Amino acid sequence: MEFIDFVNNASKILNGKNYIKIVSHYDADGLSSAAILSAALEREGKMFSVRIVKRVSNELIEEINNENPDLVIFSDIGASYDLSNLKVQGLILDHHKPKKLYGDNVLEVNPMYYNIEELSGSGVSYLFAKNLNRMNMYLSYLGIAGAIGDIRPMVGMNYMILCDAENMGIVKLSKSLNIFGTSTRSIHKSIYLNEILPNINSESSSVQFLSGIDIDLKKDGKWRTLDDLTEDEMRKLVSAIIEERIRNGFTNHDDVFAMRMRIPKLGMDINEFSTVLNAFGRLDKYYEGVKFALNPTKKVAMKIYKEYRMSIGKYMRWMRQNVELSDFTIVDARDNINPNFIGIVCSMIIKSENVGTIIGLSNDGDMIKISARSKFGDMSKFVNSLVDKFGGEAGGHMEAAGASIPMSKREELLDELKKISSIPIKK
Ligand code: C5P
Ligand code: ZN
Repeated sequence: MEFIDFVNNASKILNGKNYIKIVSHYDADGLSSAAILSAALEREGKMFSVRIVKRVSNELIEEINNENPDLVIFSDIGASYDLSNLKVQGLILDHHKPKKLYGDNVLEVNPMYYNIEELSGSGVSYLFAKNLNRMNMYLSYLGIAGAIGDIRPMVGMNYMILCDAENMGIVKLSKSLNIFGTSTRSIHKSIYLNEILPNINSESSSVQFLSGIDIDLKKDGKWRTLDDLTEDEMRKLVSAIIEERIRNGFTNHDDVFAMRMRIPKLGMDINEFSTVLNAFGRLDKYYEGVKFALNPTKKVAMKIYKEYRMSIGKYMRWMRQNVELSDFTIVDARDNINPNFIGIVCSMIIKSENVGTIIGLSNDGDMIKISARSKFGDMSKFVNSLVDKFGGEAGGHMEAAGASIPMSKREELLDELKKISSIPIKK
């Protein structure tokens, strides 16, 4: 059976179900999935509730069992957890590596069984919703936003969903400069932060470059964004960028351009929209995030994005003031850095500082969140070895990996970390 037929078959599971509990992941993909399923179940006239979580715990399974819904749908989560204690009927719409730890009461819809690698949780949720009712095709932008949040490529089934979004007129596709922040950042910042001109690597060099081609950076005292440029100005900018690259010996300019996915009604690119959804999750504003996903406005997006950037700034300042960075840095931030931000902070440090490896720890309720980043070591292997010793869960890849380890193992964990380096643990 093809994957899509399997998805379509799975929708029969809703028959006769009155109350459905949606359990979804807290990232952009998970919030998009929850939004898609909420809208679809609403259309079906079902009663439902939404629960957003960071992970599946025994307590969560107990909560579901006690609540006893007619069906629980796990979206963008569930496949790689042990659900064998789940007593109610369950449906998994997930793309994480399947473990198949559940009984006959659970049906799993996972593209991984079909070697479909591009789909995200929201992609699977969208296909499910589309089969329920074609009117749900307007939710296609969320299928894409989740995929982008999970850095899935716009190929295969994702491209199909993107075409749905374009055909519905929700997303406008165009070839454009490969730049993030076209509606949120000032022009000169966009240019140098996106590194499309390697010799323009500071605000001042970027300002100089743009002044050289007569592009006004401000209007009425406010910074203009790339979206504010007229067509003529944009053409001027593109040719100046290519000319500058040619002067610097570049022969291939493919990286300068990308497919732009714009949501005209929102006045933002899907990439930016997805970043805002991610920000809602990181700021623990889960349910506001789901609401925003279904009814986004630029005003709310900008407010959350600002809050998110301010949090990052605050935690980066704490790092700079309290941690002596070295080639191998271990940071035990405890409650000083929110566990949702420790990964982002570690990524920023490794990118901008002379640090080879950074291991960040942050308190996360009854767990310790670990984020590991390295220019040399295999962080996936490293975090998995910690989980083998102390329990918990881990994932990620060579350069960037993370884990959550029970707080009860704190002292042993710190001892273990001390052993792998002579550098004392920074507090
Ligand atoms: O959380 P952090 O930003 O450190 O995660 C780095 C990478 O590891 C991400 O790709 C994340 O999805 C993955 N990860 C995971 N399972 C975890 C923690 C992180 O797959 N428990
Ligand atoms: Zn996902």
